[in-house]
Amino acid sequence: MSSHQSKMRVENLKKHFTANQGLLDRLLSRGDREVVKAVDGVNFDIREGESFGLAGESGCGKSTLGKTLLNLHDSTDGSIYFDDADITTQTGREDIAFRTEAQLIQQDPFNSINPRYKVFDWVKEPLDVHSLGTRDERTDLVMETLNEVGLRPAEAYASEYPTELSGGERQRVGIARALVLNPSFLVADEPVSMLDVSVRASVLELLNRLKEERGLTTLFISHDLSLLKHMCDRIAIMYLGQIVEVGPARQLINDPQHPYTEALVSSTPIIDPDVERERIRLEGEVPDPINLPSGCRFAPRCPKVMDECWDEEPRMYDVAEEQEARCILHDEAHADKDVSVGGAQATSD
Ligand SMILES: Nc1ncnc2c1ncn2[C@@H]1O[C@H](COP(=O)(O)OP(=O)(O)OP(=O)(O)O)[C@@H](O)[C@H]1O
Ligand SMILES: [Mg+2]
Repeated sequence: MSSHQSKMRVENLKKHFTANQGLLDRLLSRGDREVVKAVDGVNFDIREGESFGLAGESGCGKSTLGKTLLNLHDSTDGSIYFDDADITTQTGREDIAFRTEAQLIQQDPFNSINPRYKVFDWVKEPLDVHSLGTRDERTDLVMETLNEVGLRPAEAYASEYPTELSGGERQRVGIARALVLNPSFLVADEPVSMLDVSVRASVLELLNRLKEERGLTTLFISHDLSLLKHMCDRIAIMYLGQIVEVGPARQLINDPQHPYTEALVSSTPIIDPDVERERIRLEGEVPDPINLPSGCRFAPRCPKVMDECWDEEPRMYDVAEEQEARCILHDEAHADKDVSVGGAQATSD
């Protein structure tokens, strides 16, 4: 039994989209409706106060998962427990409470802010929507929040239009809007990837400070493994709608146990003098989440693929303390085998 308190727990979560077909095809019911399995059977647990990282190549389902967790998408199947209540079945007052507790920080500070709003009104809007506080209380709260995210003096920023601000400042406005409802859970979806490299560190530092001061639990989505290693307690690696590896951040990156993680890590420049790596080239493209391969989803690109990999989808195996990987190389049946079967040997340790 785990001694950790769970903030969000996901069981067999699926989000499938029905791909767009032409109107005529639909009217004539021509062809099968194609289903995009963006999230396809995900299980994990985010602990109270934890920063949980989510990485994987473009299109693997990270944003869809993040939005489904916030109830911004209806899930296709599975359960999402937030503070032990299943949000997929909540309605009315409970649903509204969840929508104040859990907030999204978006990737794009340029398009996610309505340019017709002044900063003050943009940050205040969620309070208006939820009819929280008196007019004066709302004003005070907006000003305090602007201060907290480093937009100082708050009075000066409050009357600006977002178009007058830099990217870093706009992202702080986005963070203020997410914080004004005093949430306990954040999804930060690539929160610095659109920002100038020079301001990224200060925005990340802000997110770290908020985690400490407010005790926030965060799902941190990023392509950048070295950023996640720095920001997160644990990391999950996603491939074609599924989690293929999860573990403590440093441990997972220093000693990946799934060939996909290994390949991702080896293609990421991570500055760590303790670890030496060979580069593994990932061949091919991510297959389309409509026509999934049978067996292991990574088999068509895996440098260590074996015959059995095509037979059935692998389960998660315990591979180290708190670390799990979805790869049959960790099955007892392969305990005697050299892990380099069939291809490039990855790390030398
Ligand atoms: N609203 C939608 N309708 C149909 N398909 C969608 C929709 N949103 C996402 N998808 C598809 O779901 C899959 C996962 O997309 P998603 O945006 O979640 O990936 P991602 O991991 O966030 O990628 P990136 O790193 O590029 O942001 C993709 O194949 C995408 O085309
Ligand atoms: Mg995305």
